[in-house]
Amino acid sequence: MKPVRSFASDNNAGVHPEVLDAIASVNEGHTVGYGDDAYTDSAVRKFKKHFGQDIEVFIVFNGTAANCLSLKALTNSYHAVICADFAHIYTDECGAPEKFTGCKLIPIPHKDGKLTLEAVRAAYHGIGDQHHVQPRVVSITQCTEMGTVYKPAEVKAFARFCHQNEMFLHMDGARIANAAASLGQSLRQATRELGVDVLSFGGTKNGLMGAEAVVFFDKKLANNFLYLRKQGMQLASKMRFISAQLEALLTNDLWLKSAQHANRRARQLEKAIRDISGIKIVYPVEANGVFAAIPRGAITKIQKRYFFYVWNEEESVARWMCSFDTTEDDIKTFAKFVREAVRTS
Ligand SMILES: Cc1ncc(COP(=O)(O)O)c(C=O)c1O
Repeated sequence: MKPVRSFASDNNAGVHPEVLDAIASVNEGHTVGYGDDAYTDSAVRKFKKHFGQDIEVFIVFNGTAANCLSLKALTNSYHAVICADFAHIYTDECGAPEKFTGCKLIPIPHKDGKLTLEAVRAAYHGIGDQHHVQPRVVSITQCTEMGTVYKPAEVKAFARFCHQNEMFLHMDGARIANAAASLGQSLRQATRELGVDVLSFGGTKNGLMGAEAVVFFDKKLANNFLYLRKQGMQLASKMRFISAQLEALLTNDLWLKSAQHANRRARQLEKAIRDISGIKIVYPVEANGVFAAIPRGAITKIQKRYFFYVWNEEESVARWMCSFDTTEDDIKTFAKFVREAVRTS
């Protein structure tokens, strides 16, 4: 099959060569399964180096599970999770968070993918009323599903609100590296130091093969999480191969270099297409995604050559994602093709 690179999703990209090397490097001899191995120990130490010694971290396979398990650890079934009405947990996880936690998700309006404190405040009601679910978690996605990035002060404000009201702040960090890179912050500064309680740490969209983690900044919240992970079918028997990927990502700033690269390419793409008459960039390009309203006819033409998703059919908005391996030439060729497709549509 001829290799191609598309703009459909950062998880359409392959595995970073350094990560593949890391997997191969632990493929020697036998080692104990289920995470009781030296490679997993070493990956956990790396997480502690980034986030602090007093965290708990649990390795899982995918982002949906990281979210479901995080939320499960923070809730009982009579609780509710407040999230954006476009949050991945609400729209794209097939109801897994509801099924797994038994909790109601309360979807609220967003602005450019971001929750606002006003909307969260409005959803926080029915407290102490036995007829109502009890809001327990605010979940934000960083960077957002629309490729925007919460400012540190915005995250802090959510954390303050949560903690004043006996709630927790969960961050779906499927693309936390892109957000931290965009903000010029370390992983710790972009999460723990802003008051996040539990983080779904993403690796797959940043060049791993299928490796994510749940990071608890308050160890007490992780009580019994070992059992939840197993019940949630996310305890890998050959965990060393997942741990090795996360270790590679957290070594020599690979997480940062890959995320910066993807973000840079998205900005390049935005610059290359924003002056095309007929195209409108609909959200600020703050990480590795570009969302563009584009004539329907042009979408059909472009999709004949490039695979990507139409994000919003009604408004004819396309989503183009860049990855650690998107090249400058990829962008130039794609932008030229888009320009021509719009001109002739
Ligand atoms: C914001 C966000 N959270 C979570 C996920 C879930 O990841 P997975 O597909 O690995 O379950 C995705 C994947 O697209 C995502 O975009």
